[in-house]
Amino acid sequence: MPGNSGLLSVKNGMSEHIKKVYSFYSWIYDAFFGKIFEHGRYVAFQMMDVKANETILEVGVGTGLSLPLYARNVKVIGIDISQEMLEKAERKKQYYHLSNVDLYNMDASSMTFASNTFDKVIASHVITVVTDPLRTLNEIKRVCKKDGEIFILNYTGCNNNIISSFEKFISPFRDKVGLGKHVDLNELLRGVNLSVISERRVNFLEMCRLLKCKNNPA
Ligand SMILES: C[S@@+](CC[C@H](N)C(=O)[O-])C[C@H]1O[C@@H](n2cnc3c(N)ncnc32)[C@H](O)[C@@H]1O
Repeated sequence: MPGNSGLLSVKNGMSEHIKKVYSFYSWIYDAFFGKIFEHGRYVAFQMMDVKANETILEVGVGTGLSLPLYARNVKVIGIDISQEMLEKAERKKQYYHLSNVDLYNMDASSMTFASNTFDKVIASHVITVVTDPLRTLNEIKRVCKKDGEIFILNYTGCNNNIISSFEKFISPFRDKVGLGKHVDLNELLRGVNLSVISERRVNFLEMCRLLKCKNNPA
């Protein structure tokens, strides 16, 4: 169908754009975003309450800042669409001797994992960045075990109305530079039938939402 192939090529173009943007950010990511989002990363890790022998998927693992936090008896799979971000993650894997970690270059909106594979899945600062958030969340649900847990951490702006209107206004610009677009997380979660079982606000000015969701059957 010509309509569908047109849409596909737009999406491919957007994915190529994201790859280019994160190829650039890979050099400065840890120094800049590492510190800014450090608090949320730790709180998310605590909220995950990872148990021995669990299998975890980090969607959009980036430079792998969270990887050294996991105990070595936990299997961690990290995927990312940017080869340059993955190379930084691979360096951490080597440096910290993380034999429990495997990294793959993979698009989160069409993963090659079998359904029902992971005990817990985390998408940290990813859902607003991916080209197709709805499709990505459906994929996350598919690869997560039934009754498994899904953690979503995202910049969602502050509660102040004036600042949040300004944030919505600059959303297309943020999207262009790979810092994420405005996404209505609640609507998105309803769209994929994910129920939030706990929630926290984290990071500077509590600008990020950390959600723990139960993977309901479709
Ligand atoms: C803001 S970074 C977050 C990195 C890491 N999760 C963290 O919290 O530091 C967003 C990451 O998502 C990756 N990404 C964007 N679109 C993706 C997609 N469709 N599939 C997989 N990874 C994607 C980017 O390459 C980038 O590494």
